Amino acid sequence: MYGLVNQGVQDLVVELGGEELWAAIKQRAGVEFETFVGMDVYPDEITERLVLAVSETLGITPAEVLRAFGKHWILYTGRKGYGAVFETMGRTLPEFLGNLDAMHARLSLSMPHLEPPSFVCEQIGPNQLRLEYYSHRRGLAPMVAGLLDGLGEVFGLEVRTKQILSTDDGADHDEFVIDFDEGAEFADAR
Ligand code: HEM
Repeated sequence: MYGLVNQGVQDLVVELGGEELWAAIKQRAGVEFETFVGMDVYPDEITERLVLAVSETLGITPAEVLRAFGKHWILYTGRKGYGAVFETMGRTLPEFLGNLDAMHARLSLSMPHLEPPSFVCEQIGPNQLRLEYYSHRRGLAPMVAGLLDGLGEVFGLEVRTKQILSTDDGADHDEFVIDFDEGAEFADAR
């Protein structure tokens, strides 16, 4: 994955416990890079080892780490200059989630080695969505739940996510039902 992802993990860790904690996590993960370059591609295994090291060091599950990271990713990419990408992708949560593939496709223009996930979003009620998540990577569904937590904050909505299908159980994709409280639109929430 692009170094930007590992930088996002680093940013979360530093926020939680400073540079000292980050140094400890890196050591535990056996990561020898001094810094990550955002636009360089690193093996997925590096990210996996970082997540595991955070989990072991903080005594929380890898799924909890991924959820926290997903939420942090929304804030982090916003801060790193990707906010404009967000703003063109939808004024409401349903519209935004319907545009996730278009968003990653647009990012692929500047990140040609991107191997993005794919999403299918369907509105099933006034405040309810169904989201299918496809990836060749395994185990990242909790990150999606965290991304939805973060998007809830951006849109000023209370979002509740329930996973109804899991690749852990042999399904070919992960699937979520998302309940959200009607509220402010994107522009108002920022
Ligand atoms: C402007 C904001 C965003 C940027 C810059 C971005 C960029 C990226 C990058 C660089 C990766 C790593 C993949 C690779 O390097 O091959 C990634 C993965 C991923 N992205 Fe995004 N993304 C953004 C927003 C989102 C949002 C809003 C969602 C979903 C709600 C999302 C879902 C994911 C997931 C689940 C992965 C994990 C990889 C996988 O599932 O295979 N991203 N994204």
